[in-house]
Amino acid sequence: KVRMAVFASGSGSNFTALEQACREGELHAEIVHVITDKPEAYVIERAKQAKIPVTVLQPKAFVSKQAHEHAIIDTLRASETEWIILAGYMRLIGHDLLSAYPSRIVNIHPSLLPSFPGKDAIGQAVDHGVKVTGVTVHLVDAGMDTGPILSQEAVRVVEGDAESTAEAIHAVEHVLYKETLKLLFEQ
Ligand code: GAR
Repeated sequence: KVRMAVFASGSGSNFTALEQACREGELHAEIVHVITDKPEAYVIERAKQAKIPVTVLQPKAFVSKQAHEHAIIDTLRASETEWIILAGYMRLIGHDLLSAYPSRIVNIHPSLLPSFPGKDAIGQAVDHGVKVTGVTVHLVDAGMDTGPILSQEAVRVVEGDAESTAEAIHAVEHVLYKETLKLLFEQ
């Protein structure tokens, strides 16, 4: 089984979708650790319920980004993590973490990249008035939501309605992420 660590800053619905796929044997992988930068993130409750170890590492508790990332790397090594799966982790991955896991960090983003990178991609798409947006799964590099694209799926925008559009996007994310990882891990 592939040993994954999930990084999340928020609700963690993608964590739950992946955890379920692992538990049901759909994904031949195991979430060995959850890492969050936010002590109030709901993903912490989800991880506890799933009995998966969770570590909160707040950047402000460290003297530098480098020190923060080294604490992350130590945690990952202790749990023998092979792949890092970003699921709503709202922070750029720095040089040290990238070189500790070369081509082994995956991200999901709620738009058809390279459109609407960064924060609130769904709001950006609705405000821009595009008719179609979507979901992208990609390998992580030093940029903001850049890096080689692994898969994409289109989602129709509900005009002027970010909430309904977000619901449709999340539903697609929860299927696309596990399917993409399945193909990736089979390689
Ligand atoms: C997801 O929509 C994910 O694509 C997005 O954060 C959300 C997290 O939801 N990620 C980004 O915007 C990355 N730039 P979740 O906490 O319910 O999984």
